[in-house]
Amino acid sequence: MENPFKFGTIVEEEYFTDRVEEVAYIEQFLRSANHLVIISPRRFGKSSVVTKAVKQSGRKYMMINLQQATSVSDLSAKLLKEFFKVHPMERVRHLITHFRIIPMVSTNPVTGSIDVSFQPGVDGAVLIEDVLTLIEKAHSEQDRMIVVLDEFQEICDLAPKLDKQLRSIMQQQKHVNYILLGSQESMMSEIFEDKKSPFYHFGELMRLAKLPREDFHQYLSERLSGCFAENHDELSDKILDYTGCHPYYTQQLAANVWQIGVLQPGISNPMQKAIEQIVTTHGLDYERLWMNFKRTNKWILQRLVSGKPLQSGEYRTSTIYSALKRMQKDGYVIYSDRYELEDPFFREWIWEFSC
Ligand SMILES: Nc1ncnc2c1ncn2[C@@H]1O[C@H](COP(=O)(O)OP(=O)(O)O)[C@@H](O)[C@H]1O
Ligand SMILES: [Mg+2]
Repeated sequence: MENPFKFGTIVEEEYFTDRVEEVAYIEQFLRSANHLVIISPRRFGKSSVVTKAVKQSGRKYMMINLQQATSVSDLSAKLLKEFFKVHPMERVRHLITHFRIIPMVSTNPVTGSIDVSFQPGVDGAVLIEDVLTLIEKAHSEQDRMIVVLDEFQEICDLAPKLDKQLRSIMQQQKHVNYILLGSQESMMSEIFEDKKSPFYHFGELMRLAKLPREDFHQYLSERLSGCFAENHDELSDKILDYTGCHPYYTQQLAANVWQIGVLQPGISNPMQKAIEQIVTTHGLDYERLWMNFKRTNKWILQRLVSGKPLQSGEYRTSTIYSALKRMQKDGYVIYSDRYELEDPFFREWIWEFSC
């Protein structure tokens, strides 16, 4: 029997739930000539929701994860490779001849997949401009290409001034809809909301929230009912209470609960057992993380975990606030209606081993 829960990758089809309004909104948005920026903390479901919307739109699209690009030259090669998936090379050969640096393109005879690379040492700025110009030339206002750049905040690390160069190319393009995805703090404040940033006001900002409880509950309950005939409803509630409806951690916990249900039917507290298993698996990582935190951060995390107020006089408000901001930026803490730990299993670990 296959586990009905999935976590860690883009989810589609039967693993994807809700987001009906978001998918409809993105699809509708793509009918305009504008660009969209989607922001949320990590693992809230940005890549999944966009994949669903662009596939549903039936339009030509390409999706690149900037985290996987090692340089501007590599990013250009990856973009070109994706482009060839949409436009067979024979049909765009005449456009490639305009490239200032000719790419090396090879076909894997076994899989039929195309590989693209550039000679080492060439100027990345020239390559990226040529590739983006190619995309523009191959399309029209009636047939705009959708280009999704995932983990867009990585742009800042790839090369100095790359953001400036990209913005100046992108703003002249009329045949592309860009969807830029990124995680909360880093992206939001520095790239899109800072007046000095080249990407200031580049597109419409959309924030993705956690999944709505009612729908997620139904999703869990249906899938747990096979193993937990009597208490699947109650178990789903407990899982969602524990994870606060976080898409990734909910699927992770549910997958482990289901597994325990299959292997040890009749077990009295499957959720507790699943939590213990996950915390044990990640124990070493958590320990390493913890050791590297500054004293102030440790103190703040302990207070968040135990639910005690932060304003106790122990640290100055400004110190607490700037430490929280930093931890939010690094992804350890998220803010929805209050500050909380991003990872409920790390929260558990802190509670057990340090509070
Ligand atoms: N609509 C959804 N329905 C069910 N699970 C989801 C959904 N969106 C995200 N998830 C869960 O969250 C995980 C992370 O999703 P992903 O799209 O990679 O997030 P992000 O791109 O924001 O980091 C997925 O592997 C899945 O377990
Ligand atoms: Mg993603």
